[in-house]
Amino acid sequence: MAKTTIGKVLFTREQIEQRAKEIAAEIDKDYEGEDLILLGTLKGSVPWLVDIMKYMKNDFKLDFISASSYGSSTSSSGVVKIKFDPDINMYNSHILVVEDIVDSGNTLKYLMNKLADRGPKSVKVCTMLNKESRRTADFHADYVGFEVEDLFVVGYGLDYDQRLRGLPYISYLEEEDVEAL
Ligand code: PRP
Repeated sequence: MAKTTIGKVLFTREQIEQRAKEIAAEIDKDYEGEDLILLGTLKGSVPWLVDIMKYMKNDFKLDFISASSYGSSTSSSGVVKIKFDPDINMYNSHILVVEDIVDSGNTLKYLMNKLADRGPKSVKVCTMLNKESRRTADFHADYVGFEVEDLFVVGYGLDYDQRLRGLPYISYLEEEDVEAL
């Protein structure tokens, strides 16, 4: 792995957990008495998903899905492929996709259409980070942890070449490292 310089901390673990707690309370209220499936997107959403889960009071089912959006290392092309597809029955349940970041929106737009074909009562998205400034697809997230500027964010599940996911905060790669990608 090339040497990289990590920028300042954008969001601390405490800030992220606090936000997850607030959103978990909204989710509990919005889905009270309903069948809910939390669908984590592998791999980056895992720490955020765990935070949401631990603060939810209502019961839910849990599963995972994995999709890849192909393109350069810093932007996706819009060509999405499902790499892991769960066999959980989604018919008549509410689906809440839990994501780490929505960037162009290509991945989520594709996933939402695919999931809608399975007969759920609803499909919504809860993302830790939202990069509205980079949106090219017509996609809107329902629950957003934090709005983030156009930086190559890392940590708290977000990777650079599969590394740095374990940082206990969200930071970013300095520009010279991003240019070298
Ligand atoms: C990230 C993220 C989204 C997608 C967002 O996944 O989890 O699925 O990119 O990009 P988009 O809005 O431009 O489509 P990534 O492919 O990095 O996989 P990972 O979670 O395994 O790191």
